[in-house]
Amino acid sequence: MEGASAPAAARALLAWWDAAGVDIADAVRAADAAPVPRPGPAPRAHAPAPADDALASAREAAATATSLSELAEAIAAFEGCALKKTARTTVFSDGAEDAQVMLIGEAPGKDEDQQGKPFVGRSGQLLDRMLASIGLDRRHNLFISNLIFWRPPGNRPPTQGEIAACLPFVERAIALKRPKLAILAGGVSAQSLLRRNEGVTKLRGRRFALENPSFTMPVNAMVMLHPAYLLRQPQQKRLAWADLLALEAWLDELGVARGPRL
Ligand code: URA
Repeated sequence: MEGASAPAAARALLAWWDAAGVDIADAVRAADAAPVPRPGPAPRAHAPAPADDALASAREAAATATSLSELAEAIAAFEGCALKKTARTTVFSDGAEDAQVMLIGEAPGKDEDQQGKPFVGRSGQLLDRMLASIGLDRRHNLFISNLIFWRPPGNRPPTQGEIAACLPFVERAIALKRPKLAILAGGVSAQSLLRRNEGVTKLRGRRFALENPSFTMPVNAMVMLHPAYLLRQPQQKRLAWADLLALEAWLDELGVARGPRL
């Protein structure tokens, strides 16, 4: 944390792990005992790309939205992504629409599908605690969305076709919001928006610029490990901590006002 002495930073880290429900002794034992699996690129189910007319209608519907609420309506009305048939709700966004920071996760899970909001389940709760440590809070200064707007059955990874169908809407959301910084949570969101093939371990913590013909200027972007991955691999939280410090440093440089670090 900026300006924190080493013991204070260590205490903050331990408190954060504790709040996240991590048994620290267990995590240390596990880290000592086992080779650490790397969060490589998420496996992708193979499925045909969406029909050209679905892509064209996604692009057209996204381009005609002139506000986030019009975009939310356009997404809810879109029939070109098969996931909509099995999902209960469309999950677009949560948080402060005027925030200077936007986070883009992967896809809704069961809780999000029930509540119609992104990141409201266990990984969302961990995400909230992580981001609170750098002064970001969806109630005040953070806007949250996903790469995919409908829950994939059984939480399987989205297919390339499903990603392609949703991408015009995600990029339109970024164009309308023009955040000072976009945080890409997890490898699927990072690879799709940055159009890069490296795994999340290679992409995390680096400074990127998202480019798109519909953006008036490139958008700053940084990748962080996905909180769901951290719930499965708690010993990797030291990498997540490094991601948060890298985000905090960039937010400070960009002059993004934030709340107290909790
Ligand atoms: N994981 C995500 O990537 N997004 C959500 O909304 C929930 C879990």
